[in-house]
Amino acid sequence: MSMPERGRLAGKTAVVTGAAGGIGRELVLALLREGASVAALDIDDGRLAALADQCAERELATRLSTSRTDISRYEECEEAIAHARSQFGGPHILINNGAMGMGVIRRDHMVELIGIQEITPGMWDQFTATNYSGAWYMTRAAIDGMLANGWGRIVNVTTSFFTMLRSKFHPYGPAKAGLEAISAGQAEEFAGTGVTVNVVVPGGPTDTPMVPEESGFDRGALISPSAMVPPIVWLCSEAGDDATGHRYVAADWDPACEPDAAAAACRAPIAWPDLAHNPVWPGGKPQA
Ligand SMILES: NC(=O)c1ccc[n+]([C@@H]2O[C@H](COP(=O)([O-])OP(=O)(O)OC[C@H]3O[C@@H](n4cnc5c(N)ncnc54)[C@H](O)[C@@H]3O)[C@@H](O)[C@H]2O)c1
Repeated sequence: MSMPERGRLAGKTAVVTGAAGGIGRELVLALLREGASVAALDIDDGRLAALADQCAERELATRLSTSRTDISRYEECEEAIAHARSQFGGPHILINNGAMGMGVIRRDHMVELIGIQEITPGMWDQFTATNYSGAWYMTRAAIDGMLANGWGRIVNVTTSFFTMLRSKFHPYGPAKAGLEAISAGQAEEFAGTGVTVNVVVPGGPTDTPMVPEESGFDRGALISPSAMVPPIVWLCSEAGDDATGHRYVAADWDPACEPDAAAAACRAPIAWPDLAHNPVWPGGKPQA
């Protein structure tokens, strides 16, 4: 049994996808430090084992479970949610963070961008199944429990609008644009239920394995993956009760500010709602 904890997330169960990656690892450690129990999911067994070792050293391991879960496969998402529920209860918090980066296609993709001929249909399908469908699958598997509890937090990690629209950044960019649209619709679908849906992005290239050394960046100039922690922990805590439908840019979170003010200063509505008005619609306006 784990020791009772007093953090801002004590008693909560969080599920984090892509948990063994650069940002995922920071999130898992932060959520554990805040008192949550965490189910850490990834397809990288070696890095998951390293994460478990790191938590054992810090005596956080009693509230951690790690499992090899491929979010591009719906059955595995369902199993992971059921396992988290049986082990810790909930889940109350879902962080859809797992994704494939363009370096999977070619590691120097930032230096020489990737054109359509270099992308096989199989790669396209795997990217979209992971970066787009994976978050929907996880939310689909977790949502009934959250709605039944009348409390839930869904955080979707997308990317900068620049990357979504960038030429020769497919399938990564468009798949993330799709997840941004899913997030906007689900924030509205779950409004008033106690389940919030928000997007958090780093705000630019971040110092994680997703940005290969071959990118040619000065690593010190990249955003630290730990920048994602303050907005995500804030959203998952009671302070985030009324925050839904927002998009937070982590690099703009000012640690010198009081958290509510820092959150208010780095957010905007999810996606592009200003473009979503007034379609030509038979009989008047579409149902909101
Ligand atoms: N690093 C950046 O510059 C940057 C910028 C903007 C947004 N992001 C987003 O941040 C999130 C975290 O990325 P990161 O920078 O930590 O990269 P990362 O490559 O370090 O971590 C991503 C993790 O996702 C896992 N993953 C890949 N496919 C999976 C699957 N099918 N099922 C389960 N897990 C899978 C990988 O094994 C990896 O551990 C991603 O959603 C990414 O798109 C990153």
